[in-house]
Amino acid sequence: MRSKISSFIMIPSLLSVIIFMFYVFFISYNHISYLVHPITIFFFIVITVLLYILESINRLIFKKKLQFISKEEREKLFEENEGNYFYRLYKFIFYDYRKIHHNGVKKIDHGFDGIIELDNKLPMWWVHLFYLTIAFSAIYFFSYLLIDFSNPYKEYDRAYQNQLKEIQIFEKNTPQATIENAHFKENLIHNGKVLFDENCATCHQSDGSGNIGPNLTDNYWINIKDKDLFKNIFYIIWNGSENNPTMRAFGQSGEIKGNDIEKISSYVYFINQKSKKPLKGKIHQGTEIKEWRKM
Ligand code: HEC
Repeated sequence: MRSKISSFIMIPSLLSVIIFMFYVFFISYNHISYLVHPITIFFFIVITVLLYILESINRLIFKKKLQFISKEEREKLFEENEGNYFYRLYKFIFYDYRKIHHNGVKKIDHGFDGIIELDNKLPMWWVHLFYLTIAFSAIYFFSYLLIDFSNPYKEYDRAYQNQLKEIQIFEKNTPQATIENAHFKENLIHNGKVLFDENCATCHQSDGSGNIGPNLTDNYWINIKDKDLFKNIFYIIWNGSENNPTMRAFGQSGEIKGNDIEKISSYVYFINQKSKKPLKGKIHQGTEIKEWRKM
């Protein structure tokens, strides 16, 4: 019998299945551009031509066959092929052929209780959808087992690496604050406190009242490198202390980036100049500074 699915439906759907398989098994996630590679396109063209030739041969065989079969069979064939393509497709998908050709549906008699069960054929669209899910699950299952495609751990890894790369690019392209252009900014205090708690509170206390390191809330300073208080703070965090390596060079070593040092410096400036002094603090160290240069 003649194929019920016309070539202009058959060829594109077969091609898309092939493309899907190709995509799953041979192309890694990051190289989808291979799909438009000349070799790939050539491959698809060859397949299309082959499929078309196959379809033509099929049609020829069908025509030849018509000459050899009996009149009855020929009539049946014509009946099946009546109407245009879409009508036939509709019939194929929704009709139960047994109903049409065998005078009614098969009945199953269970015997003992007199109940008769109708054995309706499942509709074509349902059956084919079922086959499709089987094919899909087979492809998916093996791609999960054998290659990276659809493997959640690999996917996570890839996303993680991409994110790291994005962060690196972002950091490279974001200008970092330096001692020349950094300033006290009120809106940085909050983030500065968070960073201070992470990096500095072990030695200076969270409120800056001092521990191993000196009290940062009083007017006494060991290190005086700049007449401007904010710049002095920035300088020490960047370069560390010359006298005492315990206070290390956070900026120079790259441990903390310029923008974050600007935030931390804003916080230290704030607790030294603008907020209430903590009740208890480490005793004064260094020289008293009566007045810093006004910013
Ligand atoms: C491991 C302990 C330690 C850590 C962590 C530490 N410091 Fe210090 N810090 C010190 C010591 C000790 C000194 C005193 C240095 C000296 O005697 O010259 C000091 C000095 C300072 C000074 C100068 C004080 C003065 O009177 O001259 C500032 C400002 C300062 N630290 C800020 C910070 C900030 C901000 C951080 C976090 C990024 C930090 N420190 C982290 C131990 C530490």
